[in-house]
Amino acid sequence: MNTQTTSTIAPAVEIQGLSKEFAGHLAVQPLDLTIGDNEFFSILGPSGCGKTTLMRMITGFEAPSSGRVLLGGADVTAVPTRNRDLNMLFQSYALFPHLTVFENVAFELRVRRVAKDEANRRTREALELVRLGHLGDRKPDQLSGGQRQRVALARAVVSRPKVVLLDEPLGALDQQLRKEMQYELKRMQREVGITFIYVTHDQEEALTMSDRIAVMSEGVVQQVAGPEDIYNRPETRFVAGFIGSCNLLDTTVPEGAAGDEVEVVVDGAGTVRGVLGETVTSERPGTLLVRPERIEVRPDAPGAAGIAGVVETLTFLGEEWHLHLLVGGLTVKASLSSLAKERDLPGLSMGDTLRLSWRPQDARIVIR
Ligand SMILES: Nc1ncnc2c1ncn2[C@@H]1O[C@H](COP(=O)(O)OP(=O)(O)O)[C@@H](O)[C@H]1O
Ligand SMILES: [Mg+2]
Repeated sequence: MNTQTTSTIAPAVEIQGLSKEFAGHLAVQPLDLTIGDNEFFSILGPSGCGKTTLMRMITGFEAPSSGRVLLGGADVTAVPTRNRDLNMLFQSYALFPHLTVFENVAFELRVRRVAKDEANRRTREALELVRLGHLGDRKPDQLSGGQRQRVALARAVVSRPKVVLLDEPLGALDQQLRKEMQYELKRMQREVGITFIYVTHDQEEALTMSDRIAVMSEGVVQQVAGPEDIYNRPETRFVAGFIGSCNLLDTTVPEGAAGDEVEVVVDGAGTVRGVLGETVTSERPGTLLVRPERIEVRPDAPGAAGIAGVVETLTFLGEEWHLHLLVGGLTVKASLSSLAKERDLPGLSMGDTLRLSWRPQDARIVIR
């Protein structure tokens, strides 16, 4: 080992060529991931894409078909779960009904043979962290769903493992409570400085909380990046379509196209500008990705820039308006803040013709 560069801390989790096959079906295709120390890392994807299977391989509940798992630089692939420096929190967590809140959390430390005074101190700390310090004497059935979930969280972090894995932990909570818990979880993770690996199928949840997100589809990690890059610079059709609302317009990448801005013909709509995604080579079927809120709509005027679109539908959502516009043979979605609508297009109605344009950097061209 190189002792001159010991300032480099080993990443919390390294996944190398990890895959899982169930009866001839690859639930997780061989993948590599590195998750940093103290990182809030989310795995986002639709139901059945392999998220839980991946988590179970990291925890050791599931043996991989290939590959390795490293924790803090050490290969733990063959190490049983109880000897891995991690803890898990699942959607269907179970508290002991006959134990108090305090005892439920302290139990985790008893199992690990932490001395009683130390265990009590750490349990109090963990309950403060989840803001349940005042409810330590209650039994689980005297708590709300959100409070029970906090107890489970306190239990997951009380032993201060290196990594906590959370598999759709907010799935059972109602929308309002979910929102609150999202901020709480993020705050908590910052306070304790533990690496969180967070599984969700909810894009908003992932965008709100994560330092980085891995987007998964059918056992394959499609993109790993921070929330803004995932949203603004999707690298695949899947990522663009799964996260937020996006126009996916078929195009052909022209021969010799490279680098920054290119002009492409969107089949049925006309010539537009965009930037090429990293993996695009020329002369291939491509998809131009542009978010509805990145499209500027202006009144149609002689010589106006952009492509013409006819308003098909016009929907008021409070803070914004959603428009469907017929462009050639295609329907393009655009959105408009209520302010912009009132100011720039006060009399807008269905059947009106508008001009659509966007900054080239807001339209990405990826492989179809
Ligand atoms: N124990 C198992 N035996 C056979 N197939 C499984 C098993 N666990 C998961 N699968 C399959 O693997 C795929 C991924 O499942 P899972 O990891 O649970 O997805 P997710 O958590 O993203 O919803 C699914 O097709 C699922 O049916
Ligand atoms: Mg799952």
